[in-house]
Amino acid sequence: MVQEQAERASAQTAGLPPDLEIETRAAELRSQLQKASYAYYVLDAPELPDSVYDRLYRELQTLEDQYPGLQTSDSPTQRVGAEPAEQFTSVRHNIPLYSLENAFDTEEYLDWQARWQRLEPDVGETTAVAELKIDGNALALTYENGMLIRGVTRGDGIAGEDITQNVRTIRTIPLRLHIENGQAPPPVVEVRGEAFLPLDVFDDINQKRQAEGTALFANPRNAAAGTLRQLDAKIVAERQLDFFAYTVLMPEGTGDLDAPTTQWTALDLLQTLRFRVNPHRKLCQRAAEVASYYDEWEEKRHDLPYLTDGVVVKLDSFELQDRLGFTNKFPRWAIALKYPAEEVPTTLNKITVQVGRTGAITPVAELSPVQLAGTTVSRATLHNADRLIELDLHLGDTVVVRKAGEIIPEVVRVLSDLRPKGAKAYQLPTNCPVCDQPVVKPEGEAVTRCVNQSCPAILSGSLRHWASRDALDISGLGERLVQSWIDQSVVTSIADLYDLTLEDLLPLERMGKQLANKLLQAIALSKQKPWAKVLYGLGIRLVGSTNAQILANRFPSVAMLAAADESVIAQIYGIGPEIAQSVRQWFQLPANQQLIARLEAAGLQLEATPQKIDQRPQPLMGKSFVLTGTLPTLKRAEAKAQIQAAGGRVSGAPSAKTDYVVVGENAGSKQAKADELGLKQLTEAELIELLSSS
Ligand code: IVH
Repeated sequence: MVQEQAERASAQTAGLPPDLEIETRAAELRSQLQKASYAYYVLDAPELPDSVYDRLYRELQTLEDQYPGLQTSDSPTQRVGAEPAEQFTSVRHNIPLYSLENAFDTEEYLDWQARWQRLEPDVGETTAVAELKIDGNALALTYENGMLIRGVTRGDGIAGEDITQNVRTIRTIPLRLHIENGQAPPPVVEVRGEAFLPLDVFDDINQKRQAEGTALFANPRNAAAGTLRQLDAKIVAERQLDFFAYTVLMPEGTGDLDAPTTQWTALDLLQTLRFRVNPHRKLCQRAAEVASYYDEWEEKRHDLPYLTDGVVVKLDSFELQDRLGFTNKFPRWAIALKYPAEEVPTTLNKITVQVGRTGAITPVAELSPVQLAGTTVSRATLHNADRLIELDLHLGDTVVVRKAGEIIPEVVRVLSDLRPKGAKAYQLPTNCPVCDQPVVKPEGEAVTRCVNQSCPAILSGSLRHWASRDALDISGLGERLVQSWIDQSVVTSIADLYDLTLEDLLPLERMGKQLANKLLQAIALSKQKPWAKVLYGLGIRLVGSTNAQILANRFPSVAMLAAADESVIAQIYGIGPEIAQSVRQWFQLPANQQLIARLEAAGLQLEATPQKIDQRPQPLMGKSFVLTGTLPTLKRAEAKAQIQAAGGRVSGAPSAKTDYVVVGENAGSKQAKADELGLKQLTEAELIELLSSS
C-alpha cells in the first residue's frame, strides 16, 4: 500500500497520470488522430469530420495539459513548437546529397545510358524507375527508433541547416514511422524527398504579400525555400508546405524491416511508412518507355497542383546502383530529364509602367502577340529597374519571352544583334506616372515605389486595406464602392472618409438613405479602433498586423513613432532595419504627414488608450441588444460601440433571443415587436447604468 502510494507520487512528479487508463486513452487518441491526419493529408481521403477530429484533438490536449508526462514528441499536438528559433545550426550530412546530371532530350538520355553501360557491359537494357522531378527543395529527415529527430535542408549537399522545428509542421511528414504489427523500427533511417508549396497555396501567399506590400516570391520554389528558413515555426505551419518522399536510406540487417533492394520497392516502403509518395511513377523496362513517360508528362504536368521541371530516372536495382557509384558530382545511376523552358522571340513595341496597389512600380513589356506554352502572350513583366538596366532594352528590340515558373511570362534576354538602327534606350520614369510625385528606390532593394498615399493608383488599394477587417473594419466599404467613390472624386484620401456627410453620399448612384447612414455609422465606429489597428491600416510597407502591434506597443503614440530614430526602430525585437527604413520613409513624406494630421483632427486613435478595450470589464458579455428610436444623448453608432466594447452584440431586429431593446423617441415597429415578444426594454439612462456595472 505504502509502496503503491509512493509510486503514484513519483509518477505524478514525472507528470504522468495516476492510472493506466488515462495513459491508454492518450495513446489511443494519438493513434486515432495520426490515422485521420494521414487519411486527410496524404491519402486525400478524409475519414473523420473536422468536428470529430477537433474534439479528439482537444481531449488529447486537455489530458496532456493535465499530465505533461503524457506528451510524446509524435503527438499531433506537438507539430508547432512554442518558441521561434534564434538561428539555425549547420549540420553535416552523413551521406552527401548529390545533385543530378541533366539531359534535355531523349538523345542525351541515351548518351547517359551508353555511358553507364560501358562501365557495366553485361547489363544491357535494364529496369529503371521514372519519377516526376518536383520543383522544390530537398530535405533529409532522420528517424531514430521510428521517431523523427532531425530535418535538414540540402544546403551545399555536404552540410545543410537543421530546420527540424519547421519540418515538424509539414503534415505529410510523419513524426513517427508507421510500422505494422509491433515490429521493431530500424534504429536509424534517413528519408529524403522534396518539400514544395502547392500552386494554390503559393498564389494565396503572394496575394497576401501583395496586400501587405511585401516583396512577392518569384516562384513556388523560392517561396518554399523562404518558408523553410523561417525562424518562427508558426508561420511555417500557416504556409502549408507539402512533401514527396523519394529516397530511403536504411542500413541492412537492423530492426525487423527488410531493407529494400530496388528503388521501386523503396517507394512502396516509404508509402507503408506513411510518407506521401508521388503516385505518377512508372517502372520502365526499356529506354522507349522512359521516352514515352517523358513525352506524356510534358503536357500533363501543367494540370498538376504543383510544379515539376522534368523527370528523374533511376536504375531500379540498388546492387547495380552500388556498382556504378558516383562521379565527384552526380550518381552514375540516375539522371534528370529536364523539360526545356518554353521561350519564343517577339518584338518589344512599348513599355508601360504599372503602379500596383502598394505603390510598386512595375515596367511591363508590350509585345507583338506570340504563342507561348499554349497561350497568346502580348505582355510580359520586366520586374523592376535593376532588371531593366541588366536587359538594356531599346524600343523595337527583339526580345525572348519565357513562362517563368509556368506563371507570368517574362522577358529573359534581348537579341541585341537584331536591334533597329537608332532605337532609343528605355529608362524608368523618375516620377510616378499617375500622380507625378517622385518615386523612391531604397538602396539595396529592387522595387521602385510611389509612396504618395494619395496617389489615385494606390488610393484604391489603401482605402480597401484601411477598411479591411484586420484594420479599421469598416463594414460595407468594399472594392466596388471604393472604386466608384474614387472615380467620382468623393474621396481623394483616407482622411476624406471622415469628412463625408449624408449630403455627400445621397446624390451618388445606387445610394439610398439607409445604406448611406449605415456607411457613415461604420466609418464613425472606426474612430474607436485602437492605435495598432490604425497603424496597420496606414498600409506602411512591411508593417503587417503583427509588426503594427509590436510598433504600437513600443511607441504608444503616432508622434513618438514619427519622431523615433530609424536605428531605435530597427533595434526592436522582430522589427529590423528594413522595416525601420520603410517606416521612416513613410513618415518623411509630406503627404503622409498631412494624412496623419487630418486623421488626428477627425478623432482617430493615434495613441494607445491607457485602458485597452479588450481589457475592460465586459459586463454585457453574451447579451444581445436592439436599438430603436432616437436616444436623448447617444448617437446610434456610439451606443452600439459602447455595447460592443462591453461585450454585447447589437442586431437589427428584435427576436426571441434578444435580451434588451433600447428604446428612444419615435420608436416604431421594433418597439411593438418587443412588446409582443415580452422583451426587456431599456431607456438610455438604464443602458448607461448597465454599461457601467461591472
Ligand atoms: S533523386 C542522388 N528524385 O532534384 C539522387 N530528386 O538536381 C538525387 N528532385 O536535389 C535526388 N524530384 O531536390 C530525386 N523524384 C526525385 C526528385 C528529385 C525532385 C530534386 C532534388 C535534387 C534535384 C536534382
